Amino acid sequence: MRKPFVAGNWKMNKTIAEARSLVSEMTPILGGITEVEKVLCPPFMAIFPVGALLQGTDIGLGAQNMYWEAKGAFTGEVAPGMVAEFCMYIIVGHSERRTYFSETDETVNKKTAAALSAKLIPIVCVGETLGEYESGRTAEVVSRQIRVGLKDLDPEFAAQCVVAYEPVWAIGTGRASTSENANAVIRDFIRKPLSEMYGEQTGQSVRVLYGGSVTAANAAEFFGQPEIDGALVGGASLKVDEFVAIVQAAAKRA
Ligand code: PGA
Repeated sequence: MRKPFVAGNWKMNKTIAEARSLVSEMTPILGGITEVEKVLCPPFMAIFPVGALLQGTDIGLGAQNMYWEAKGAFTGEVAPGMVAEFCMYIIVGHSERRTYFSETDETVNKKTAAALSAKLIPIVCVGETLGEYESGRTAEVVSRQIRVGLKDLDPEFAAQCVVAYEPVWAIGTGRASTSENANAVIRDFIRKPLSEMYGEQTGQSVRVLYGGSVTAANAAEFFGQPEIDGALVGGASLKVDEFVAIVQAAAKRA
């Protein structure tokens, strides 16, 4: 059985004071929802204070990005081992990183391998752009992102990856994918290549999330699909009621 998983990607939002106040409101309610693996991914500056507030709860902490090298002259970057001092999770290859910061399937692969070596759980994001979607290239793009982004991982650890299917056209647009479409993409272009690469058991045990305009109103519909194990939530993770309701919807899947 795959445990439902909901992560909040705060992106570049919240000062330390704002982060503290959001987390203080969320933790008492979220902590009670034990059926779901819950993760908050604040910006780097807020990781330490948020981590302090999550101490003693079952809510996990994640970062939104890191570099793959262990240390050295890489101004502005953060190493896997540094993230692992505070976090258990790391978002890798979010479409905003691919679009604005030139990340590629190859760099996603290096980061994913480095994350696993540092004992971090990577949340690897894949998904086609609007142009790719409209020209019918979803299958080709998503399966390539999986085959290259997750290649040559230690087979023992590959199953620890969490994958987020986030069609780029659905992120922050209010235009979510249909749940049937997301379910089919996950089944055919994420689990199938993963099974071919790492065996059926890994393909079936990796948690796969949907992301892109998930809200309290549509979450249950996504979680009703057999291949969708949870959500990577952007905008709605900044609102206590919305995020709590999404986690509660995921608990019903358990
Ligand atoms: P959104 O973002 O929920 O605001 O669409 C999702 C994401 O970027 O992970």
